Amino acid sequence: TGYITMDPGFGNTGSCYSSITYVDGANGVLRYRGIPIEELALKAGFTETAYLILYGKLPNENELKSFSDRIREHAPIHTNLEHHFSGFPKSAPPMAILSAMLNLVSCFHPEVLDVPTTGDEFDRTAALLLSKVRTIAAFAYRMAAGKPINHPNPNLSYCGNFLHMMFSDPYNEYEVSPEIDKALNLFLVLHADHEQNCSTSTVRVVGSSRANLFSSVAAGVCALWGPLHGGANAAVISMLDAIKQSGRPLTYYLDRAKDKDDDFRLMGFGHRVYKNFDPRSIILKKQVHNVLTALKIDDDLLKIAMELEEITLQDDYFISRHLYPNVDFYSGILLRAIGIPLDMYTVMFAIGRMPGWIANWKELHDHHLRISRPRQIYTGNTEHPFIPMNQR
Ligand code: CMC
Repeated sequence: TGYITMDPGFGNTGSCYSSITYVDGANGVLRYRGIPIEELALKAGFTETAYLILYGKLPNENELKSFSDRIREHAPIHTNLEHHFSGFPKSAPPMAILSAMLNLVSCFHPEVLDVPTTGDEFDRTAALLLSKVRTIAAFAYRMAAGKPINHPNPNLSYCGNFLHMMFSDPYNEYEVSPEIDKALNLFLVLHADHEQNCSTSTVRVVGSSRANLFSSVAAGVCALWGPLHGGANAAVISMLDAIKQSGRPLTYYLDRAKDKDDDFRLMGFGHRVYKNFDPRSIILKKQVHNVLTALKIDDDLLKIAMELEEITLQDDYFISRHLYPNVDFYSGILLRAIGIPLDMYTVMFAIGRMPGWIANWKELHDHHLRISRPRQIYTGNTEHPFIPMNQR
């Protein structure tokens, strides 16, 4: 009795049983509810994938239609909520806006503060959240860009509607090309869930205190923001761009990444679980080529990225530590091709991850889990006298 095992970063701690997403890190396998990511990436729509993740099975036609109708119905946001956007300074990072606004949404829908985890009320709330996150993200961009907001158009697809809210102008309705709609759909499907990663664990930890779904996912957004997690997708593009601008050889960056006295890391490389390859990165690398070819885009950053991947594959430091490109390595190049601005990349990840966060929050409650409350080993003074102010 009484011994404590430390596991920094929870690399070897199982926090829950889950039947949502299966990851086999040694073999690069990722499956949502048992279905391989490779199949979903090519065959499934994002709303179809969200349904699969939330309810454990692919929807039939009627189920998908009523799910999509619900998402469509909840796309507009309350006018008073709209006014909040103008309170943010122009320089506000969209991730800060997203997190704050997700919490705010619950104030406009007090019924969601005590949402049950099953039944019609849960279904309604899940659809509401999947829909509002998209509207909030687009409005945050429009406000920061000093452009008028575009209200959602119920006749458009999930991706089409987002692109319309982002890019339509009063005199110029944005026309969503099938290639771009497909590329965005692929991006969202690949990000829809990834078992107990940092943000999903955060959603579970917050939810375990019985905090409501909205505050739990708002916390998830904050965890995702960091450059070691979702923030890596923007950091990769900044890094590739810096490499291009500097004109320095790639080995200069490789050496810096290997130097333990230098904080620099190759962004988009390495993963806690995948030790041979990240299947999402394999899919993305291939699809990025297809998308750029279809859109007739020649992106220098893709060439630099591929060269960087190539030299790391020959390098002992990266080989011995099993460091390969992860999902964030090629995703930024896809988002660039779609026309998404850099500071919105991690917001895009958050839109994609929403089904996974909601499903994990639900599962946490379905399994009646205990409140998350890790222990520590105390290393400070065990006892110290209180010193009066005039003697300090
Ligand atoms: N560049 C250089 N060295 C690295 C890198 C990297 N990108 N990643 C890991 N290492 C080294 C690390 O220094 C350590 O070396 P040593 O054994 O000599 O001390 C070894 O590899 C193991 O790394 P770790 O930090 O213990 O691994 P972790 O499982 O704690 O961290 C990670 C995983 C993804 C945070 C990390 O690999 C990393 O910082 N990568 C760069 C940021 C990134 O791309 N994040 C996206 C992650 S995937 C999707 C997502 O979650 O958003």
